[in-house]
Amino acid sequence: MAITKINEPIAQFEAWLTEARDSEPNDPEAMSLATATPAGVPSVRMVLLKGVDYRGFTFYTNFDSRKGEEMLANPAAALTFHWKSLRRQVRIEGTTEVVDDAEADEYFSTRARLSQIGAWASKQSRPLEGRFELEKRVACYTAKFHVGAVPRPKYWSGFRLVPSRIEFWKSMEFRLHDRLVYHRTDKGWTSERLYP
Ligand SMILES: Cc1cc2nc3c(=O)[nH]c(=O)nc-3n(C[C@H](O)[C@H](O)[C@H](O)COP(=O)(O)O)c2cc1C
Repeated sequence: MAITKINEPIAQFEAWLTEARDSEPNDPEAMSLATATPAGVPSVRMVLLKGVDYRGFTFYTNFDSRKGEEMLANPAAALTFHWKSLRRQVRIEGTTEVVDDAEADEYFSTRARLSQIGAWASKQSRPLEGRFELEKRVACYTAKFHVGAVPRPKYWSGFRLVPSRIEFWKSMEFRLHDRLVYHRTDKGWTSERLYP
């Protein structure tokens, strides 16, 4: 195992994301997010990466959604990026934490006004009678917040996945793919290669 520089896997991830922004037809920031109940029952869905730095990978959602409830009860989670046109995959495992209110407020303020209203109107992951029920809720919150800034709902915020393992997978000829995995230690990261 090689000892690596403190933030080497994060820098590597940023380099691949930059390339993906040039190559992918849409949503290079899309990632699958796997969560699990405290009993270990898994679930997975796509979310959008909204920030990455030495602390981890940040995305936004509703605390009362299925994923929100699962992460609040069991912080163990994993992410996968698949950039099809580059034939690359990144797998990230770790624990999630809620971002602080100031960070969530700052991001929420950059969202389109209708997306802000949508955060109020959508009871994400709960049963919906029909589209009209949702439209009524959108109309209701549009009226409620007709002037001034739309505040962030208390149940809508960001999670940061703090990584303990990051794996870079690159397609190679004859399925002899390249796999480079980083493990976090007290001092930084170690890395090793895995058989494909
Ligand atoms: C490309 C893509 C990006 C998405 N981004 C988000 C996101 O950033 N946050 C979010 O809450 N849902 C996002 N969704 C919707 C989720 O996949 C999911 O349907 C929703 O969050 C409810 O998931 P849950 O019931 O497991 O909590 C996205 C869906 C797709 C296909």
